[in-house]
Amino acid sequence: MPPGAPLPAASECPAYADVREAIHAGGGWISFARYMDLALFAPGVGYYTGGQRQFGSAGDFVTASGISGLFGACLARQVAQVLEASAPAVIEFGAGNGRLAADLLNALGDRVQRYEIVELSPALRALQAATIRDGAPAFAARVGWRDTLPQAFRGCIVANEVLDAMPVHLMAWTAGGIFERGVICEGDGFAYADRPAEGECAAAARALASRHALPPADLPYISELNLASRGWMRSLAGFMERGAALLIDYGFPAREYYHPQRDRGTLIGHFRHRTLEDVLALPGLADITAHVDFSSLADAGCDAGLDLLGYASQAGFLIDCGITDLLAATSAGDARAYLPLANQANRLLSSAEMGELFKVMAVGRGIADPLLGFARCDRRHAL
Ligand SMILES: C[S@@+](CC[C@H](N)C(=O)[O-])C[C@H]1O[C@@H](n2cnc3c(N)ncnc32)[C@H](O)[C@@H]1O
Repeated sequence: MPPGAPLPAASECPAYADVREAIHAGGGWISFARYMDLALFAPGVGYYTGGQRQFGSAGDFVTASGISGLFGACLARQVAQVLEASAPAVIEFGAGNGRLAADLLNALGDRVQRYEIVELSPALRALQAATIRDGAPAFAARVGWRDTLPQAFRGCIVANEVLDAMPVHLMAWTAGGIFERGVICEGDGFAYADRPAEGECAAAARALASRHALPPADLPYISELNLASRGWMRSLAGFMERGAALLIDYGFPAREYYHPQRDRGTLIGHFRHRTLEDVLALPGLADITAHVDFSSLADAGCDAGLDLLGYASQAGFLIDCGITDLLAATSAGDARAYLPLANQANRLLSSAEMGELFKVMAVGRGIADPLLGFARCDRRHAL
């Protein structure tokens, strides 16, 4: 879609009817988390479940593995260290188009015997299977898809850009109290409506308010609460017997996330490489994401008994994993091969691109410190 071209109307979007129905069933109001869940994952019509193209230049965004095979090759070095200390098994959450899985399988070779994927979208499962069949044919028989979480697991968990897709609650901290921002029908579209916060949302929002002095002024302070990612972390703690989870995403420690100046939160939509401020505009057609609050995630993991094994910028992590050696070895003195690879590495590492905004966090159980990827760049103290 060319820049400036008009967007489709909300009523023409695939998840429109599901959202309207949910609002009617909810007595005229649903939480933003419910809206985001439907817009992304409603069966057959959500952004991830509707079979549309999300990845690459013809889609809405590009992830690290779509930029360069160096990302998977580098991450594989960290995964290998975890597997050696636990068991030769990987579970990848939210494998997208399957590119990262194929890159990890090729780089790990026989060091991984079982590679399982937890993916909510049936359409993406099919795409992942095709990518792995074509891109890592020697290892495709080791790959399977899980419908449920394991009872017990030894090995390495990988989740790249998954936590940012988990539905968030939208909150408004005001001088008059804390409100939850939900979604109502308005004309042919949707609008926000606030209600006094209740239950788990109210408790979590109050805890953030006292830690970060919210609201910082008389104006409402709007931000998100990712309760789903905290629950996900607790379930991870429940099944992880020995091993580590490597969680990669854009985000910040809480004091940066809930900084007084970030008073509009981090929610954003993506549609055909355009960013959308109005995330109610294209239900089911646009991606919706929120940055990750890594402090809350680390707290949820540690409270559930996991060890925090590392936290670093993506650039620091990839450098500690040896991306520069990999770059030299992959181009092997061939300047024509080197230049495009160096350009890709720059996109992964540069602080103007992914290097600083993206972080890597490792949590686990029964794994000795330090992990390779955090040996020199660890910033756990910042969480
Ligand atoms: C932005 S894509 C990232 C894809 C891939 N990891 C990559 O690096 O290219 C988000 C992926 O996470 C999946 N997803 C979102 N929430 C999930 C959850 N709770 N469990 C499993 N998969 C999830 C989506 O369906 C999609 O495959």
